[in-house]
Amino acid sequence: TFIDAHAGMRKKERTLARTLGIDHCIVVSGDSDQDRKVLEEFGSIVTDVLKEELPERENVVAVMGGTTMATVAKNMDNLETEARHNLFVPARGGIGEMINIQANSICAMMAEKTGGDFRVLYVPEQVSPETYDILLQEPTVQKVLGLISNADCVIHSIGRALHMAKRRGMKDTDMAMLTNKKAVAESFGYFFNAEGEVVYKIPRIGLQLKDLKEVQHVVAVAGGKSKAKAIQAYVKNAPSQTWLITDEGACDQILKEA
Ligand code: G3H
Repeated sequence: TFIDAHAGMRKKERTLARTLGIDHCIVVSGDSDQDRKVLEEFGSIVTDVLKEELPERENVVAVMGGTTMATVAKNMDNLETEARHNLFVPARGGIGEMINIQANSICAMMAEKTGGDFRVLYVPEQVSPETYDILLQEPTVQKVLGLISNADCVIHSIGRALHMAKRRGMKDTDMAMLTNKKAVAESFGYFFNAEGEVVYKIPRIGLQLKDLKEVQHVVAVAGGKSKAKAIQAYVKNAPSQTWLITDEGACDQILKEA
């Protein structure tokens, strides 16, 4: 029955949270590798988590990029109340993704869907280091960087290391370096080995890994059996306050390997 299935899933979530050593896991039924529609459900779950977690005041929510995040954004819902207003900011500068899955676009979409506000961070990468340095001095850029470093909440996804490196057009030599260092996971520009240690970082501005520990509300969204190893690796050193939102495909695989 539905009740049994529901209870079964809650049990699975507790087992997964214990296995991964984080406070909260939410598992959606299905496997997003097989059925991309599963990803659409993550949007309403992220909305529910934020409704519960975000206090009734002005909150700064820093968001990352990727296809998961884009689907989450499209499926979010109103988060505004009389006293709660959310400002969405991109958590990082561009790192070579297509426009529709860049943090800037996702921010705008989340603000639209939830009734909040957003800021953008336009710092292109294809400029000389001198131009880059000058851009960083711009007051509007400084302002957004200030908001990012004081974010109340961060929402991000987790990817497979080599898959992400390839998608972002990293050089063959960098791919070889990542293979050598046994990178298995990628999240917000950092690459991690199976022990959850950082083995490489894409130089970029915005949120840094050490800042994440200080963020009160952290939501990681990643599903699909193919991401099981990446999720497991990343979560090893993730802040314990992280909420992991995933699917059965990833969850069952992680529990099988644990
Ligand atoms: O950093 C992780 C990636 O943004 C995940 O990308 O959602 O397209 O798999 P994805």
